[in-house]
Amino acid sequence: MLLSSTEINAPKQANTHAASQHSPQHPTRETIILATNLNKSVGSGEHVLHILRDLELQIQAGERVAIVGSSGSGKSTLLGILAGLDVPTSGLVSIQGNAFSTLDEDARAAMRGQTMGFVFQSFQLLPTMTALENVMIPMQLNGHPTPMQTAQESLAKVGLAERMQHYPKQLSGGEQQRVAIARAFAAQPAVLFADEPTGNLDTANGEKIIELLFKLNQENSTTLVLVTHDIRLAQRCDRVLTLQDGQLSEKAYA
Ligand SMILES: Nc1ncnc2c1ncn2[C@@H]1O[C@H](COP(=O)(O)OP(=O)(O)OP(=O)(O)O)[C@@H](O)[C@H]1O
Ligand SMILES: [Mg+2]
Repeated sequence: MLLSSTEINAPKQANTHAASQHSPQHPTRETIILATNLNKSVGSGEHVLHILRDLELQIQAGERVAIVGSSGSGKSTLLGILAGLDVPTSGLVSIQGNAFSTLDEDARAAMRGQTMGFVFQSFQLLPTMTALENVMIPMQLNGHPTPMQTAQESLAKVGLAERMQHYPKQLSGGEQQRVAIARAFAAQPAVLFADEPTGNLDTANGEKIIELLFKLNQENSTTLVLVTHDIRLAQRCDRVLTLQDGQLSEKAYA
């Protein structure tokens, strides 16, 4: 069967449109994370270690950004500072136009709870609480109106509807990581930070977690900032930034 030129052209036009919508350079997108002149030093005197040096970073809403770099280059330090879990020695971080440095500890915690999710490399689930309780707790602390129902829905989305009453030690590494992702995504944060989300998982479970992260990114238009050594994960992102000598540089992924 021959296709008319309109039929042949239609999908092309649709694709072009989709590509421009996903471009990190798209002019209508808002900047969601802005870091300016960021410095982080630890230690003192001769033993001072400059982890971040005048680092600059701008991330647009909905972008998927991978941060790579050798061990000890400061990736986890940077992620912690961007999420307001740690403070820079100097420089500014603002999320959705609000500078962390202008907020006190309570306001920072409130902003984290409302706009950000964090997936730690080591899962950091509370061992004495069930999967359901682990997902509910942050929402309860942040005054979420329906913590239990939302936690149940979030666990169902990561395929753990049948395991909600299990404790972390009764779950496999991949299942624990899915609980951590359910917890991070439950309140539908604008930004999800994940530090080596596939680092502790075997290939098959790593693949599942990658699929899950990008599915949730698409469903909720979540901005993803991922630290990773996993090339499969980095290649799925819009941009790959390398942290070296305290600064970020952008490289096209070969
Ligand atoms: N509080 C601290 N005191 C002293 N040194 C620190 C502190 N925090 C981090 N460092 C050092 O800063 C450097 C960067 O650490 P960071 O954990 O950010 O690296 P990373 O890129 O995440 O490494 P990895 O890939 O191994 O996880 C390391 O040399 C680490 O030892
Ligand atoms: Mg690290």
